[in-house]
Order: sequence, then C-alpha cells, then structure tokens
Amino acid sequence: MSQTPSQPRKFLVMGNWKMHGSLADNAALLSGLVAGAQRAGDVQLAVCAPAPYLDQACRTLTGTAITWGAQDVSVHDRGAYTGEVSAAMLADFACSWVLCGHSERRAMHGESSALVAAKAVAALGAGLTPVVCVGETLADRDAGQAECVIGDQLDPILALGADALSRMVLAYEPVWAIGTGRTATPEQAQAVHGFIRAALAKQGAAQTRILYGGSVKAANAAALFAQPDIDGALVGGASLIADEFLNIAASVA
Ligand code: 13P
Repeated sequence: MSQTPSQPRKFLVMGNWKMHGSLADNAALLSGLVAGAQRAGDVQLAVCAPAPYLDQACRTLTGTAITWGAQDVSVHDRGAYTGEVSAAMLADFACSWVLCGHSERRAMHGESSALVAAKAVAALGAGLTPVVCVGETLADRDAGQAECVIGDQLDPILALGADALSRMVLAYEPVWAIGTGRTATPEQAQAVHGFIRAALAKQGAAQTRILYGGSVKAANAAALFAQPDIDGALVGGASLIADEFLNIAASVA
C-alpha cells in the first residue's frame, strides 16, 4: 500500500552518527555537509549526533537546510536520573528529531517496546519528532517471525493514535543488516514497509514516513528509494562521510 499520489513524498535522509566523532571531526563533516547540501535537492537532511555535540550541531547548522537531533531521550522530565537527558534539554539545543528504540538500545540497554513508546511520548511533549526504530533479528527472520516481532514492537506505538503517529517517523532497521554490509533487498525492505504502512493506515496515519536503515550506501540507495513505501533512510556508517551521505540523498529520483 503506498501513499496517495496527491501528496508527494518528502524524503528524509538522516544520519545516525552513533558513538562516533570529536569536535574536530564533526566540524569537518558538518562543513562538508553544509557545503554540499544543495545536492540533496528537495530531500530533507538530518544528523543525529551524540548528546555532547548537539551544541556544536546547533551552532553550525542553524540557518542551514540541515536539521539535527539526538540518539536517545529520557522518559522523565527532570530529577535524579543520573546520565539521562530530557526531551526539554534536547529542545534547548533546537533538536528537531530524536531516535527512540534503536536496536542497539533495545539489545544493549534492555529497552522494551513500552519504554520506547514512552520515550516517543516524551519527545512529542517537547515538540520533537521521534524517529521510532523497529526491526527483527536474523533468527526472527529465519524463523518466519519478522512481521510478528515488528508487530509487537509497533503495538504500543500504534496505540498512541493517529495524531501522535502523524507527528513521528518510523524506521525499519533489520538488525541483521546494521553495520554488516548486508542490506535487505529492496523487495525485502518494501515487504516490511508495506506491512508497517498497512498498520499505520489502520490507525488513520498512512502518511507517516517510514525510513529504511541497515548498510545504506550511495550504491544501494536508489533502488531502496524506488520502493513505494520507503520514504528515506536512516544511515549509520555512511553518514560519517559527507560525500557518501550527500550521494545517498542525491539518489532520490
Ligand atoms: P549502518 O548504516 O552502519 O548499517 O547502520 C544503520 C543504523 O543502525 C542506523 O541507525
């Protein structure tokens, strides 16, 4: 199921820097992105930086076409939560986006789907757009359980209703394709995106954007973007190279 042709898709290409970077490296990367941003045409560009560098992103990118965001957010507003960063703090640095429930956080920090939904609610409350990540492991896929696992991850998000869903972005990132060089084929990705689109449509939120993530590179981006339900990419490793990241965005036909 694709979106209605009367509303053209606005593609979003978002970098997830993960725990990479330094002030010096980021300065070079960001200046490369700013210098080449026009190559992205109508495609929206965003970078999700480690929290200590959000100030740098804010200072460098304010007034440019590139938006920025964070990689995680607390469910709490304030208080004795050592190490946590609230949505209001992210808003103080003019973040537009925050990743919620990246598979690395689900796997390494035990984040449940209910917690991820609570993080999305916290982000929305501060005016940020949550980018909610879902995806199956290779074992899930091999067991024929991909849709079942993704459906379970989606349930608490879908329960937030059409208004909340219309103010967020979803990202499908098969765990087996992250950092492995092994991308889902465009057909495999589209099958899951179509499944997610149908679930969104059932809630009255068919227009919510769905990004694909997992070893996206300039060489495979065009075929992914040609799929009817892939509205952009969430890019890890390739987002650390300005030229490669911009080439991904420029792959949107
Ligand atoms: P890679 O593009 O490095 O596979 O990472 C994908 C990802 O996890 C983006 O959030």
